[in-house]
Amino acid sequence: MPEFIFATCQIGAEPALKAEIQRSRPDFRFAFSRPGFLTFKLPEGHGLAADFDLKSTFARAYGFSLGPVAGRAFDAMAAEVWRLYGPGPAGAVHVWQRDLDAAGRHGYEPAITSSAIEARAAILKACPDKKLAASQSGPFDEAKQGDFVLDCILVEPNKWWVGHHRAKSPCSRFAGGMFLIEPKEPPISRAWYKVYEALAWSRLPIPPGSRIADLGSAPGGTSQALLEMGHWALGIDPAEMSSRVLQHPRFTHLRLRTTQVRRREFRNIHWLLSDMSVAPDYTLDAAESIVTRADVRIHGMLLTLKLLEWRFSERIGDYVGRVRSWGFDRVWTRQLAHNRQEICLAALKGRANSPFNAD
Ligand SMILES: C[S@@+](CC[C@H](N)C(=O)[O-])C[C@H]1O[C@@H](n2cnc3c(N)ncnc32)[C@H](O)[C@@H]1O
Repeated sequence: MPEFIFATCQIGAEPALKAEIQRSRPDFRFAFSRPGFLTFKLPEGHGLAADFDLKSTFARAYGFSLGPVAGRAFDAMAAEVWRLYGPGPAGAVHVWQRDLDAAGRHGYEPAITSSAIEARAAILKACPDKKLAASQSGPFDEAKQGDFVLDCILVEPNKWWVGHHRAKSPCSRFAGGMFLIEPKEPPISRAWYKVYEALAWSRLPIPPGSRIADLGSAPGGTSQALLEMGHWALGIDPAEMSSRVLQHPRFTHLRLRTTQVRRREFRNIHWLLSDMSVAPDYTLDAAESIVTRADVRIHGMLLTLKLLEWRFSERIGDYVGRVRSWGFDRVWTRQLAHNRQEICLAALKGRANSPFNAD
């Protein structure tokens, strides 16, 4: 039975991750950390299943930890990875590097680095199961639900950490929990990546051709993504929108602050997205004033909550409770790979609609 778990997160989020684990699992003992990488010792007889849910907002990826391998030559380290992993089944091999900088600092974006790709190639070459090695395609590919995944995290140039998890949730199928997608057209803004990741993670059951309000829509990456998906977007922002979305027949711009919009504008809207550069309480006030109106029927929401200060992370439970009090049965949160010092809150009304019934 594994004695430790590992988790990787954004640099700067480590105290928030530690604090949430201390709250939800006081029997897990913090053991080791480097920026963006933490391990915890598990209590004896923990009985956690390979696809356990850490119920964490800040852990981008996590699993059982088997320990480090150290060395100078990738080939020798790769052979050691398999020795630590042992004879257990493996359907996929995830290799990634802990974050190298805080998300957004000097434009830094978490990614699968070239060192991780090189290490993964060495690990596959050293794989004793040639069939498994041959079945692996790219370093960005999705594991199948239920696959046992070998995890290898490059913690230092000459020190990797080996672990494993069982793929279950959408993000657990990608190396490092990073949902990375290549755009066909140049995105208008980073929000384009964020909304694709938020939808993949949350699995909000938004039917094709839905009418969606986009609060804080300028310059337009979110609406661009929604329009690509075939939805109708109502963009609300006092700032200027890109002409690429303004010209689109399924896009409407209200060049106003959310507080200035007449609430009847939301009568045909069923989904609410918000990505405003304001404090979480402001975003929640704006959402509340829309979703609690008797003549407005919002089925689900994706709200970016800006953690203007990291101490706001201690209030996530309050934010979730507040959204639940508006009648949303399911509310869940994650710091997405494309989030900076912010988190994404997903909310859904009606248990029958919930993608989680299948879990
Ligand atoms: C991070 S940007 C949004 C990026 C956008 N989602 C996109 O797809 O490109 C934040 C936006 O929030 C807008 N904003 C701030 N306060 C607002 C308010 N009260 N009502 C509407 N928009 C607001 C700002 O004008 C700014 O354009």
